[in-house]
Amino acid sequence: MVVKYKNYINGEWVGSGETFTKLNPATLERIGEFPKGNENDVNRAVDAAEDAFEKWSETPAPQRGKIILKAAQLLEQNKESLARELTEEMGKILVEARGDVQEAIDMALLMAGEGRRLFGHTTTSESKNKFAMTIRRPIGIVGLITPWNFPIAIPSWKIFPALVCGNTIVFKPSSDTPRCAIRFVEILEKAGVPKGVINMITGPGGLTGMTLVRHKKVRAISFTGHKDTGAEILKQAGIKRVGLELGGKNGIIIMDDADLSLALDGVVWGGYGTTGQRCTAASRIIVHEKIFKKFEKMLAERVKKLRMGNGLDSKTDVGPLINKAAQEKSKNYVDIGLKEGAKILCGGNIPKMKGFFFEPTLFTNCSMNMRIAQEEIFGPVVSLISAKNLNDAIEIANSVEYGLSSAIYTNNIRNAFIAIEKLEAGLTYVNASTIGSEVHLPFGGVKKSGNIREGGINGIDEFSALKTVYIDYSGKLQKAQIDTE
Ligand code: UN1
Repeated sequence: MVVKYKNYINGEWVGSGETFTKLNPATLERIGEFPKGNENDVNRAVDAAEDAFEKWSETPAPQRGKIILKAAQLLEQNKESLARELTEEMGKILVEARGDVQEAIDMALLMAGEGRRLFGHTTTSESKNKFAMTIRRPIGIVGLITPWNFPIAIPSWKIFPALVCGNTIVFKPSSDTPRCAIRFVEILEKAGVPKGVINMITGPGGLTGMTLVRHKKVRAISFTGHKDTGAEILKQAGIKRVGLELGGKNGIIIMDDADLSLALDGVVWGGYGTTGQRCTAASRIIVHEKIFKKFEKMLAERVKKLRMGNGLDSKTDVGPLINKAAQEKSKNYVDIGLKEGAKILCGGNIPKMKGFFFEPTLFTNCSMNMRIAQEEIFGPVVSLISAKNLNDAIEIANSVEYGLSSAIYTNNIRNAFIAIEKLEAGLTYVNASTIGSEVHLPFGGVKKSGNIREGGINGIDEFSALKTVYIDYSGKLQKAQIDTE
């Protein structure tokens, strides 16, 4: 019997009419049936968030922080079972699934502490006997729309800062990982988040998500996902704060002075980790022409050895893709790449095994304008591109419409600093891969990769509204810009 899951509205688990089924991408077994949240569900969730707002926003932030600390403890206690369920639902290998949960624990700990900071600024005034400062106020009801590739971590980047700042939440997780979202909400409920403060509706983005985006009572939307969805959200949101974390087509530059075995580890981890399904994945490897042939050979040998399989099996290096559409997308890009004249060194096919697998694929002879080197594939497909020198490599790296992550392998400090300055990206790694951000540092992109930073204090910025306060104790009218003698 397949398990039927429910939405969480106003502190209660409630069903909706229609449902959808979610499959385990490695075994095609059914994970469960989930509500297709409709307009009515979203409205009820928003109303619950509205009712809960006053009390929650008036709860002192250190107390909100204590509830978040409790959530961190519960995440820790349930880490292994959450990681296993995450692997079943999403397919990433177990060590990475543990990392996903760990990232949420880290974020919870950081934001629990933030409950005792939430700093504003004090500054001087241009007038005498006048005091000036900023304080942080909650925004109100926030709508959080999250992806499936980090089904615990990315919700945590949004939920914990939103909570500590005193907002109330309607959370719409990806339809590919609804069970992880439910587990997360169960933990928040157990930790003592009061009813109505977090509400969760599962369902399709076009209906459930966009109803939330358009909702007049929702003051902010935070979305991580595909750039086209991000663009649509911006169109439909009306006047509200919209934070977007979108895709990437991230490049690793490998200079002729680099430690090639270190670079090799970084490329394999960044290109094929999470089966290439990270917005920070390294999908373009830009290699100095002097070492191109050598590195190409080293990489192809390694990629051929990667073992596909169920992420629960400790021998697996690369799990399945999330769903059939993703599998077809990778296959489609392989066909495009071949037509464009790129050469396959390994992989390229849907293997004859159960589940949504795709062979770890490596293209060479790629040029920067090919579609496989420009468009986000979100699968285990990596393109090798040769560069004449550092400037050429940077030009190639910057040739895409995205600007999320980037990396350079070099032992020359000059090369490193030039790359740090010139790579158009929100993140640059030196002698490390394009993936693996830490929760206390800003995360986000430039260009079409998005318009915000999350993590650290930036998460607080995303979910609080600064209020500027002037206190005039002069006892007389002081006109700004005029009475300043
Ligand atoms: C994403 O894929 O949306 O640094 C984010 C990283 C991860 C975040 C990925 N912590 O790659």
